[in-house]
Amino acid sequence: MDLTLTDDQQSLRDLARDWVDREVVPNAAAWDREELVDRAIVGKLAEVGFLGMGINEEYGGSGGDFLSYVLMMEELGRGDTSIRGIVSVSLGLVSKSIQAWGTEEQKRQWLPDLCSGAGLACFGLTEPGTGSDAGSLVSRAVRDGDDWLITGNKLFITNGTWATVALVFARTGGPGGKGITAFLVPTDSPGFERREIKGKLGLRGQATAELILTDVRVPDSHRLGEEGSGFKIAMTALDKGRISVAAGCVGLARGCLEASVAYAGERTQFGKPIASYQLVQEMLSDMAVDTEAARLMVWRAADLAERGEPFGTAASMAKLFASEASVRAANQAVQVFGGYGYVDEFPVGKALRDARVTTLYEGTSQIQKLLIGRALTGINAF
Ligand code: CAA
Repeated sequence: MDLTLTDDQQSLRDLARDWVDREVVPNAAAWDREELVDRAIVGKLAEVGFLGMGINEEYGGSGGDFLSYVLMMEELGRGDTSIRGIVSVSLGLVSKSIQAWGTEEQKRQWLPDLCSGAGLACFGLTEPGTGSDAGSLVSRAVRDGDDWLITGNKLFITNGTWATVALVFARTGGPGGKGITAFLVPTDSPGFERREIKGKLGLRGQATAELILTDVRVPDSHRLGEEGSGFKIAMTALDKGRISVAAGCVGLARGCLEASVAYAGERTQFGKPIASYQLVQEMLSDMAVDTEAARLMVWRAADLAERGEPFGTAASMAKLFASEASVRAANQAVQVFGGYGYVDEFPVGKALRDARVTTLYEGTSQIQKLLIGRALTGINAF
């Protein structure tokens, strides 16, 4: 696999691997227990250029191709899904949408802060009554002179309480996707409230929130893209976002495999290391095959995207397979660790809790299957 990486890509991967071992791995269990990631991590992510990857240097970004971004995501995902999520959402879903759809003025206004860590972004699509059927969202934006007044609730929003800017999708026209417009909304705007969501199964350290907007006023210059193009902006962002989630899942599965191989070599039962038992080896080899297959699918989707080829179906396949594989791998890792896998002194229990969200967010496994089915048959089964 490594043979296809350029020197730059390998250096980036090594940098990310070392950085994760230094800044994330030693802290991940405590962040999980305390239900709070140290916010200083945002500045540290920015310092190494991880919040600017793929963003042009003239806007404060650190450049780099899409496969490099995916390699970084695998390493971050190996360390902590919460940390990978911070970058996936702020950079992958929001900064990249601004770069793709924004005016020159918007790029200059928002991107430098988002790349330097002075700012952080969240993606306001999901609502209490609108998950998989994103096109039915009910938040509204109404014209008021040169401004817009936005009202609505957004739920399960990654980075919600930390973000300085929210990319908010709101209805400005009739029903369905064509009635939706995207806005860049500063989170310190009057009428913008946030409530942290606690008690999550996993991602406990991540700042996940509900956003409540009541007549939040933004100038028309904060509209991203044309009126009515919000759904397309969201879907385009999610196409690549799904590759990013999938890459994080490869990292999580790899972390579980590495921890399990090490543990199985040390732990003895019946007078021998448990690694010497066939049933344990079966679990390790299943995890290894899942991890490798998921990585190949992620790289293939990333390669198509990089070359400007259609990649949506490959992204759905990668997201579907890698997220389900990460749950399987984490579950098997708990089995290898036995009782020790069930307490938070060892990392695999947390990995299982964290992995579980990846088959839900950025499009459930069922949505990915329907997208793949639609691509195969031409029939929309939603
Ligand atoms: N790229 C560009 N345009 C797209 C597109 C894409 N990937 N997908 C759809 N569109 C366009 C279509 O071309 C169509 O345009 P026209 O009307 O001009 O032809 C329009 O959008 C409507 O398309 P669909 O008929 O396919 O729309 P739909 O209402 O049937 O919905 C869906 C499709 C796939 C179910 C979509 O709603 C979906 O992806 N749902 C899942 C939502 C999701 O992933 N949410 C994640 C929340 S964000 C998150 O999790 C982030 C976080 O904080 C972690």
